[in-house]
Amino acid sequence: MSRIKIAPSILAADFSRLGQVVKETEEAGADYIHIDVMDGHFVPNFTIGPPVVAAIKPHTSIPLDVHLMISEPLRLISEFAAAGADIITVHAEAVQDLKSAIKEIKKNGVRSGVALHPETPVAVLEGTMEELDLALCMTVNPGYGGQTFIPSSMDKVRELRELINRSGFNVELEVDGGINDSNVSELLLNGADVIVAGSAVYGAKKSLSECIERLRNPE
Ligand code: DX5
Ligand code: ZN
Repeated sequence: MSRIKIAPSILAADFSRLGQVVKETEEAGADYIHIDVMDGHFVPNFTIGPPVVAAIKPHTSIPLDVHLMISEPLRLISEFAAAGADIITVHAEAVQDLKSAIKEIKKNGVRSGVALHPETPVAVLEGTMEELDLALCMTVNPGYGGQTFIPSSMDKVRELRELINRSGFNVELEVDGGINDSNVSELLLNGADVIVAGSAVYGAKKSLSECIERLRNPE
């Protein structure tokens, strides 16, 4: 099995010093920088857009994992790609045709991801595995950092792992929302490959490297 990846979500970081934050996060051993984009429409909250992604880009060399929680995401793919996104994830609930959305992302030279809201069945991803690079299983309702993990998402992660394995394609399984030292072990057992964590990395009292290491190798 390949090494577990940790993707700290900068939503929980100090926005006034994002350049420094992503640099420190890379130095602390993170694998991706997870960037939560919210438009005040697909979700009530409003966060950051392409200019901020472009501002962060020169401060780190690890991949920028851009999670688009926005309506009609296809209209902005090229802008996020040009800003420096390395992975672009759209929500299955926000696009009409998943296969063409994935194609559109890849056409822009970035890795493609699809996210599933907690209520969206994993079956919607059937038939997309060949082109897909990353499947994101939301473990809270998208919209805010610092929420409580939804316990039923454990089963869903397992189901998604089975779907990926059955397909035989190399799709990363990312989990996002309410993840911390107490639930990460079970997520890893259920087959998660990429762990997103906001509060458990930037909101903890420990150093960034300790937080990242604990998520990668929980006790
Ligand atoms: C939720 C976002 C998450 C969130 C994770 O809508 O997609 O990435 O920032 O933050 P924590 O780890 O605090 O739940
Ligand atoms: Zn996210």
